[in-house]
Amino acid sequence: MIYLDNAATTRHKPKSVLKAVENELKNSANPGRSGHNCSLKSSERIYNARKVLGDLFHIENIEDIILTPNATYALNFGIKGILSEGDHVITTSMEHNSVLRPLHALSGISVTRVKADCYGFVEPAWIEAEIKPETKLIVVNHSSNVTGSIQDICTIGQIAKRHGILFMVDASQSAGVLPIDVNEFQIDLLGFPGHKGLYGPQGTGGLYIRPGLNLKTIIEGGTGSESSLLNNPDFLPDKLESGTLNTPGFYGLSKGVEYVLKEGVSNILSYEHFLLDLMKETLYNMEQVTVYGPVDSKRQTGTLSINLNGMDSGVAANILNDDYHIAVRSGFHCAYPAHETIGTEKTGTVRVSVSAFTKEKEVKKFLEAIHKMSKTKI
Ligand SMILES: Cc1ncc(COP(=O)(O)O)c(C=O)c1O
Repeated sequence: MIYLDNAATTRHKPKSVLKAVENELKNSANPGRSGHNCSLKSSERIYNARKVLGDLFHIENIEDIILTPNATYALNFGIKGILSEGDHVITTSMEHNSVLRPLHALSGISVTRVKADCYGFVEPAWIEAEIKPETKLIVVNHSSNVTGSIQDICTIGQIAKRHGILFMVDASQSAGVLPIDVNEFQIDLLGFPGHKGLYGPQGTGGLYIRPGLNLKTIIEGGTGSESSLLNNPDFLPDKLESGTLNTPGFYGLSKGVEYVLKEGVSNILSYEHFLLDLMKETLYNMEQVTVYGPVDSKRQTGTLSINLNGMDSGVAANILNDDYHIAVRSGFHCAYPAHETIGTEKTGTVRVSVSAFTKEKEVKKFLEAIHKMSKTKI
């Protein structure tokens, strides 16, 4: 199978990740609960996961990183933990449902959704123009899971800072492929998955919380600390990390992040740009194919949306799967407003997404398949 659905979950993981998960599964103990050597070993693995994530995102105090099961939990913890009735939030039309739905679910807050252009870009000035006295938070998807479009979070962060507004970034598609420095970009809340560009297992993700921010708890329970109290402890990470952590997963994630740090984010991105250019060169010249999103791959992470004109995106993905053994995703990718933005609200798109492990020859086979489909099926 040729796997081109890495925006959902990266399938090929570094060997060190697989070894780590197996090792911890064979030797699991509960981290942070007991003082015996097995528990201490597991705690050390959790500590290491936080440590390398801190290195990657330039986070000084690694206890400001909350480990979560995925990016959705992280984004929910951040959004629901910080907002109160009367608050106004600015976000964009390129957001994923893991931002749009928690915002929608909160009562008493108002939301302004800034519409991106047809390539998926939002001008920072468009966000600034929507600021009101009651604006509490700006939430931006760093890079789109539909078009790959990269937003200028550096400038948006400066705007947020200048106006005294909190800035939250959804790094689901950018963690591991774009440089992220929480200080340089003035990020107050950073939600990220472990199972995509950080090459960890599913069941891993996290939220960075800038020191001084006081988030409400969403889940309360055992933390292994201050057990005599009915409230969750008041300090991080315990305040927001109730229940047993996925130690095998986070040990695996630590190895995935080590891989990213060793390879270098910019080298991974350059390789993904090379693959994107390879695809675009051919696809732009196919009459029966529409390519969406940025023209310049440099403004994009390794995700490309296309349609074969006249063919439903689901049908196209099924043909790719059944006849060519190529895995892609079709439909709306949990981000319907992004489709309204790029004009695919009726059709959805066929989404092709690469990783550091995608081979050039796999991309070429995909292009051959699209070429054949465009000739024979329409
Ligand atoms: C932009 C974006 N945000 C959030 C998510 C949610 O991530 P997770 O599946 O880890 O909860 C995704 C997943 O595809 C995404 O692409």
